Order: sequence, then structure tokens, then C-alpha cells
Amino acid sequence: EQIEKGGYDHFMLKEIHEQPKAIIDTYRGRMLADEGIIKMAGVDDNLEKFLNADRIIIVACGTSWHAGLVGEYLFEDMARIPVEVEYASEFRYRNPIITPKDVVISISQSGETADTLAAIKLAKSKGAFVFGVCNVVGSSIARETHAGAYTHAGPEIGVASTKAFTTQITVLSLIALKLAKAKGTLSNSAFHMYLQKMQLIPDKVKKLLQIDDHVKEIASVYKDAKNCLYLGRGFNFPVALEGALKLKEISYIHAEGYPAAEMKHGPIALIDENMPVFVIATNKGHYEKVVSNIQEIKSRNGKIIAIVTEGDVTVKEIADHVIEIPDTEEALTPLLTTIPLQLLSYHIAVMLDKNVDQPRNLAKSVTVE
Ligand code: G6P
Repeated sequence: EQIEKGGYDHFMLKEIHEQPKAIIDTYRGRMLADEGIIKMAGVDDNLEKFLNADRIIIVACGTSWHAGLVGEYLFEDMARIPVEVEYASEFRYRNPIITPKDVVISISQSGETADTLAAIKLAKSKGAFVFGVCNVVGSSIARETHAGAYTHAGPEIGVASTKAFTTQITVLSLIALKLAKAKGTLSNSAFHMYLQKMQLIPDKVKKLLQIDDHVKEIASVYKDAKNCLYLGRGFNFPVALEGALKLKEISYIHAEGYPAAEMKHGPIALIDENMPVFVIATNKGHYEKVVSNIQEIKSRNGKIIAIVTEGDVTVKEIADHVIEIPDTEEALTPLLTTIPLQLLSYHIAVMLDKNVDQPRNLAKSVTVE
């Protein structure tokens, strides 16, 4: 097992560090940045179905559901296709309205999650076209869907999903860009710009992994917290949910993710000097609004750990700690903002002496209801 961990103490840490390569493996051969082409057989062969879809319904569970939420922002923003993101377990029992004009995208690392599989069967029985985004080749979901795209992240052993999440987002970004180009909802120059920026992501993730000591220091300050709040907006709202999930899963600290603006409708009541609040405040859309959320936390003595874009000035002055991420397009920021939150959860769990790779009560793949 030590050999399999490749010199890392845990599979989770190894998998976090594999992300630059995993993201490259996901877009290799698909994204030809210099030629300005995205080739994905599963999409190319069914392009009309995607282009004529009334809407896309994304079904998934857990971390894959969070990736689906990022997908919603990507598809709507770039390709202007309405999207609904559903917990597979709710969707399958809700008597949902599904028509042959719907495209259903199921997302699953393992390809074996029982609820997701059942949601796929239901959607198929109603005539929808079902596309799978899976990591495990030949898995049940990969076989049950009409077409699909593998994430090529390699085996993920740690129960807490890391590289599966970022590679799912990579696949969803490629599909969204491809559809946007085909529909003409994104200009040629914007399309090319995204491809160039996507190619820079793996190096930026690598750079982020180098600030591990800084993240570890922050982890040591907040490891004894009883509750944590994670806030983000837009593309980074799902990242806030995922950050909170990672902490819950492996450190057993209660954490909640929220859209930053919803804080005033509840979570703000919890804020006091004992409440660490992790805020994703990258220097893009909503920046000013997130800054004012940060001020609201500060005035209630909450502790602020902010994820900001390199060179940020405003948030730095207010926050207790900042973690800088390299600049990129807003739609691609989830691939970067996620990384320090993964590291933070990892270090807190290690400091608390928890079983990082096999947290209590959780399974890597939930094949029963
Ligand atoms: C379990 C795992 C999570 C995972 C979820 C969905 O809860 O512990 O890490 O996100 O299942 O799994 P899937 O394989 O369908 O992505």
C-alpha cells in the first residue's frame, strides 16, 4: 500500500497532487487549443440532440452533484441552454417531467451509485437521451448511458473525492464550450481564449499545490472549530458546498456551504468570534458584493479566511487569512479555488488524527439505496 501511495502519507493527498496531470489527461486529445477544436466523440456523434435540447437535466450524488452545479453555470452562461441539477435520489422518486427533448447528463466517479443508475433508467424509459460523465471505465453507468465522456482521472481511492471533481468540471467545461461554439453563443475569439486559458490551468494548479505549508498553517489555527461556514457566489457557490463537504467527510467538523448573499437569511445568526468563515472572493463578477459580505462577517467578529486572486488588495485588509489563487477566467476559477479547500480539509483531518482515506460511516461508492 505504501508503494501505491507513491510516497504520500494518504491516497487523498496523492490524489490532490495528481490533479495537474489528471486535468491534462482529461483534455488530452480532446482539446486542440492551437487548432481551436474540441473533439469529443460522445458529443460529436449526438450533437443534434444537444443542440435541439429544450433543457439539460444533470443527475448525480455527493461531490459529483457539486460538479453538476458548476456545469449548470457553465452550460447556461456559455451555451445558453437551460439546466436543472438534481439529486438522483430525489429525482427518481419525484415523478419528474422528462421528455424526449431533454438531455440528461449523469455524473458519477464510480459509475456504480445506485440512485444515479436508477435515475438514468427512469430518464431512458421516458425517452430522454442520457449522457454519462464517469471515471471508471466500463462501469454500470458507463454501460447504461447512450453515450458519454470519461474523466480519465485514474483510480481514486480516497473516499473524499478530489481529482474526480476537478476532472468532472474539466469535462463539463469542454462540453459547454463545444456546444457554445456550435450554437454561436460564444464568439470565436472568446472560444479560443478559453482554450488557451484552459491549457494554463494544470500549471496554475501545480503552483497552488506549492502553497501547501501556508494552508497547513491556517489548518492548525482552525482545526478545533466546531462549526465552519463556506461562502461563494456564481461559479464558486458550488465550490463552497464542496469545500464544506470535504471538511465534514474527513474531519467530522460540522460545515455548511452557502451562496454568499443568502448568508443574511440564516447563517449570519451563527457568526461570532468562534466561527471560521471561508469565503471565495476571487477578483471577478460579484467581487464588491462578496467584499460587503466579508465586512458583515467582520463586524460580527467572525474569522475570515478568504480565497482571493493574486494581487488582491481590498480583501487582504479585512480578512484574517488570505489564500491567493492565480488569475484565470471566472468560469474556470472552480478548478483553482477548490484546491486550497481540499488541502485545508486534508490537513485538519490529519491534525485531528482522523482516518483520512476511509472516514467513518462513508463508502467510496454507494451501490445500495
Ligand atoms: C459517495 C462518495 C462521494 C461521492 C458520492 C457519489 O458518497 O463517498 O465521494 O461523491 O458517493 O459517488 P459517484 O461515484 O457517483 O460520483
